[in-house]
Amino acid sequence: MKKTLKALTFGLVAIMLMFVLAACNSESSGKGGAVSVGIVLPTKDEPRWVQDEERFKAALDGSDYTTEILFSQGSSAKEKENVETLISKGIDVLIIAPHDGAAAGASVEAAKEEGITVIAYDRLITDTEAVDYYVTFDSVAVGEAQGQYLIDNAEGTGVPLYLYAGASSDNNAFLFFEGAWKVLQPKIADGTFVIANSSEAEALKDKSELTRDEMGAILGQVTTNWDPSEAKNKAETHLTAVSEDMKGDVAILAPNDGTARAIADVFGSDPAISNYVVTGQDAEKASIQYILDGKQTMTVFKDVRTLVSDAMGMAIDILEDKTPETTGSYDNGATDVKAKQTDVIVVNKENVQSELIDSGYYEASEFTGLE
Ligand code: BGC
Repeated sequence: MKKTLKALTFGLVAIMLMFVLAACNSESSGKGGAVSVGIVLPTKDEPRWVQDEERFKAALDGSDYTTEILFSQGSSAKEKENVETLISKGIDVLIIAPHDGAAAGASVEAAKEEGITVIAYDRLITDTEAVDYYVTFDSVAVGEAQGQYLIDNAEGTGVPLYLYAGASSDNNAFLFFEGAWKVLQPKIADGTFVIANSSEAEALKDKSELTRDEMGAILGQVTTNWDPSEAKNKAETHLTAVSEDMKGDVAILAPNDGTARAIADVFGSDPAISNYVVTGQDAEKASIQYILDGKQTMTVFKDVRTLVSDAMGMAIDILEDKTPETTGSYDNGATDVKAKQTDVIVVNKENVQSELIDSGYYEASEFTGLE
């Protein structure tokens, strides 16, 4: 019922989108091909953001609405250039997932000066008042789901726990870690888990709530910078450094799918690791195959179709001089940014079929080993 409702809502939004898009197009045609909505995404190197591009394109299919999507390739300088390009094309709304949440402040301030409405997409832009809205998944819930999965699958006590995190330049990395820590910390304090790879986390193991600086200190040790090769190198270093009692059956908090696969490859090839449970997020195709093959244990599915329709729905409201609907707000260090938040779903071998195939997110033919 819930799923049908979701599909129906999505369908309705998509249809509405097309009508409004057509209308907007005729309005803006006088501008001679001007772009109404500019979209800036962090990098094409991670499948996660290519997914977003595809879903934006699918949402806009069949209309000649004037949008443009640019990628920043992991560079704040390139991101600024992208925003400037879009400003020069006359955009009214900017949808942006920043590479670096603080560094993006200058770009969105430039957009704001031109009267453009700024929507932060998935990642919050911090320490600036120049962000009007934020569309996001519940990122703290992502971390909680990852931590809870490790707890539910831990057997006995003294289970070695390897912690990894995202890039400190991404506010989400803190939210994911905050969520994971919230559920894991009591289980570290009671001896279910023993931290294997972070002296900073070990020193804070009796604190249930960490300050941003404390989390920063842990991230400083266990960040992957969202980079699978950095994740691989760190995992190798950690497995070389630990004593044998930190091997055997282990639990691994990996922040997303790209880094989870890299870390899983390292742990999977160490003969002293008898079993590992490893988390992920994004439901990337390669990770779904890893899950089916028993090489990754879970992922957190964030339905990008919903995020895209929320962001575009907001953009259209703004273009039509309506106030977008929001469900809460996020403090970005300078102001409370009005936000619309979406829930996430835990996916493992058991529910790949129902959550990802039956819902039409992926095709069964894209995988092998589906039951
Ligand atoms: C996103 C994740 C993504 C990560 C790395 C985060 O901000 O929320 O979905 O895996 O960045 O790109």
